[in-house]
Amino acid sequence: MSIKKSEFIKRRKDLMAHMEADSIAILAATKPALRNGDADYAYRQNSDFYYLTGFAEAEAVLVLIPGREKGECLLFCQEKDEVKELWNGKLLGPEAAIKTLGVDDSFPITDIDDILPGLIEGRERVYSPMGKDEAFDHQVMEWVRVIRSKVRSGAHPPGEFLVLDHLLHEMRLVKSKTELDLMRKSGQIAVAAHKRAMQACKPGINEYELEAEYLYEFARSGSRAPAYTSIVAGGDNACILHYIENNQTLVDGDLVLIDAGCEYEYYASDITRTFPVNGKFSPEQKAIYEVVLEAQLEAIKTIKPEAHWDDPHNRTVEVITAGLVELGLLKGKVETLIEEGAYRDFYMHRAGHWLGMDVHDVGDYKIEGNWRLLEPGMVMTVEPGIYISPKNTKVDKKWRGIGIRIEDDVAVTRKGSEILTDGLAKTVDEIESFMAA
Ligand code: GLY
Ligand code: MN
Ligand code: MN
Repeated sequence: MSIKKSEFIKRRKDLMAHMEADSIAILAATKPALRNGDADYAYRQNSDFYYLTGFAEAEAVLVLIPGREKGECLLFCQEKDEVKELWNGKLLGPEAAIKTLGVDDSFPITDIDDILPGLIEGRERVYSPMGKDEAFDHQVMEWVRVIRSKVRSGAHPPGEFLVLDHLLHEMRLVKSKTELDLMRKSGQIAVAAHKRAMQACKPGINEYELEAEYLYEFARSGSRAPAYTSIVAGGDNACILHYIENNQTLVDGDLVLIDAGCEYEYYASDITRTFPVNGKFSPEQKAIYEVVLEAQLEAIKTIKPEAHWDDPHNRTVEVITAGLVELGLLKGKVETLIEEGAYRDFYMHRAGHWLGMDVHDVGDYKIEGNWRLLEPGMVMTVEPGIYISPKNTKVDKKWRGIGIRIEDDVAVTRKGSEILTDGLAKTVDEIESFMAA
């Protein structure tokens, strides 16, 4: 299962249909990043570039010129090269790019400075991902400068520069059927990985041993990388929201929070589960867990077309505040505590984010100052949590150091929602039975 050439072609056509008249869009592949010495980080194509091309090579530039008679969609890429290919792997080359990627024309990347100014010339507007890659911004201006230097010979440089992101990211926000299939697959690989880690857990092992379990499951399922740096946080570490050291021993009686998801064919999953290291929740752990679980289940219920982006978050705030009052961790009237934001000592992040090719995916959350309405095909996480700092002297000692988050990936459907990460133990009973089995 993967995105077909026809879908990439359609995306480019859709984007061009939304571009202003007399415009050109220029988008570059990600540059390889040096890790140390002469060793690079594993190469991962820029999501926008891949979304429009399906092309995973570095040193490439996509150019879209709606309405151009001699071809609207052009690709600059590396030429075939026996020596480079012997050392670093196959290159597609411009000739094959036309057929394989369905572009109208393709040229060697080494010719771009000679060709691109001529393509920009006469266009009023240039779209590019401005402000992300200083060197590329500079490069675009250099191409424009070449045209400016020829105005006395009648050349016409562009007058407007526009950020490409908005048009493209609105498209990426709403997933197609194939994209949802890939996200379901990414979600299910992550489900299997979390199961594996849950089963391997026991007191005395190190956090990194659990990390090894899910990384193994990701890799053997065809996911070539985690979608983000994962969190395996035992005990108090779960109260550090972005804990990634993952190198402490797991202690009998503590909880462990795992936030891990994979990337499959460029699509991310993002799951968090929190479970007892020894397989059995203590009464305090269970009490907090039940509040977070109710918040998550209630928030998922709000997700449907026409709901506001903020509805799931607001629901988690209501349930968590009421739950904390019930347990005596907050004192006062629930409505007043919500107004005052008292829950923020325990729940300091929002309930979720868009999910797609990027783990924190693209797409606006507000339209003209208002939270946007949900539409079928949008995918989000739902991930409420309660984190009671070990230093919180305002609460009874028995609660301190408990950190719990529960996170699933949810797609908006025509009738409501679908949990893409379904099938993983989530209630106290399910977790305890699964770990005992
Ligand atoms: N793992 C990143 C997040 O949950 O937002
Ligand atoms: Mn997460
Ligand atoms: Mn998340």
